[in-house]
Amino acid sequence: MFPVISLLTFVTLALGVATSPVVVVDRSPILSLPLKRVNNFTSGHDILAHDLARARATGQPVKRQSSEPVTNQVVSYTAVVGVGAPSAEYDLIVDTGSSNTWVGAGKAYVRTSTSINTGNRVSVSYGSGDFSGTEFFDTVNLLSGINGQSIGVASESEGFEGVDGILGIGPVDLTEGTVENTTTVPTVTDNLFAQGTIPQNLVAVSFRPTTISSDTNGELTFGGTDSSKFTGEITFVYVSCLPRVGDHWGISQTVTYGSTSILDNTDGIVDTGTTLILFEETAFESYVTATGGVMDENTGLLRVTTAQFSALQNLNFNIGSTTFSLTPNAQIFPRSLNRFIGGSADNIYLIVANLGPSGGEPFNFVNGYAFLERFYSVYDTGNNRVGIATTPFTNATTN
Ligand SMILES: *[C@@H]1O[C@H](CO)[C@@H](O)[C@H](O)[C@H]1NC(C)=O
Ligand SMILES: *[C@@H]1O[C@H](CO)[C@@H](O)[C@H](O)[C@H]1NC(C)=O
Ligand SMILES: *[C@@H]1O[C@H](CO)[C@@H](O)[C@H](O)[C@H]1NC(C)=O
Repeated sequence: MFPVISLLTFVTLALGVATSPVVVVDRSPILSLPLKRVNNFTSGHDILAHDLARARATGQPVKRQSSEPVTNQVVSYTAVVGVGAPSAEYDLIVDTGSSNTWVGAGKAYVRTSTSINTGNRVSVSYGSGDFSGTEFFDTVNLLSGINGQSIGVASESEGFEGVDGILGIGPVDLTEGTVENTTTVPTVTDNLFAQGTIPQNLVAVSFRPTTISSDTNGELTFGGTDSSKFTGEITFVYVSCLPRVGDHWGISQTVTYGSTSILDNTDGIVDTGTTLILFEETAFESYVTATGGVMDENTGLLRVTTAQFSALQNLNFNIGSTTFSLTPNAQIFPRSLNRFIGGSADNIYLIVANLGPSGGEPFNFVNGYAFLERFYSVYDTGNNRVGIATTPFTNATTN
């Protein structure tokens, strides 16, 4: 989820593309954290509503009004993280789209010998909820233990049923203005790097396509990449600093469907917290025309016939100097999960959706989970770049 903060730093558009792909060599020690996918949706409409609320929250430099409805988390990735000495375990949402780490939504914070109360208030609003409370310093037990990590302890929270809080691994600037008397709050990744625990200030995310509702199908690594999770080389592109987006993981890309151009070179974001792939309206309409998909009222997603599915072509994402192709199978919602989106078991639904008119949002696409379960992604803060690579599942026919 994206925190809606009042102080966004607007940076001039500075796009760059790495001239040649660079490979990050695996170095130890890195930390691997298994990610558990938790689905909580009963309709495709829920997924779309959540994805669009999240996209809108990204572009708004205003605090969400408390009267606005909260969009429930429909898909979360959680990891068990220990805090304190002795360590107490919390089930935290792992979020690349926000940067504060906090506990206390479900299980109450356990004060231990390492807890230090700063007395400073903390509050963060997300597209899908909010929390407020007090900022503490404590030991967060990732790898060898992060000493003096600043964490939020919630006294109130909304929209985080079933979890204890968030492990925020987005860019540090997203913490600006969230804690009293504090400019920015170093993230767990920043501190792992500053304390010499990991060799590089980066995180990498791997998902395996899954066809069951709740599954430990992901892995997050801090400080390096895991070469068992990707194939070939990693293509890096410099983060595009989109105006009005603050510091999200922005990239530029063009998209073709077969040989038909769908999206001209433009800026967008890579986001683990978005489920679908969103294109601005004109590109979305080109995709609809090219595939023959029709809007399905029950699910809110595009539906194709079996014949249209057999005729689907690759959806090609040109990023840097590399083309990453989503196969026809990767463009459909897992059929075994159709009943969870209000669909019928025999139907075929597509995972590309409409972001709305170009200019309505500060970016023209979101490469969400449907993209990231087919490609490895690297968020390299130290070098201000995003990396993408193919995986053993890029061409899988699991859907
Ligand atoms: C799932 O979503 C519903 C509303 O759609 C919400 O009431 C419920 O608390 C959520 N459950 C979890 C575990 O997030
Ligand atoms: C922190 O901020 C609060 C409210 O802005 C203020 O009352 C308090 O004196 C500040 N504390 C310190 C240590 O600066
Ligand atoms: C996927 O399949 C295509 C066509 O068969 C092939 O060219 C490509 O190398 C495959 N990609 C991966 C990552 O296996």
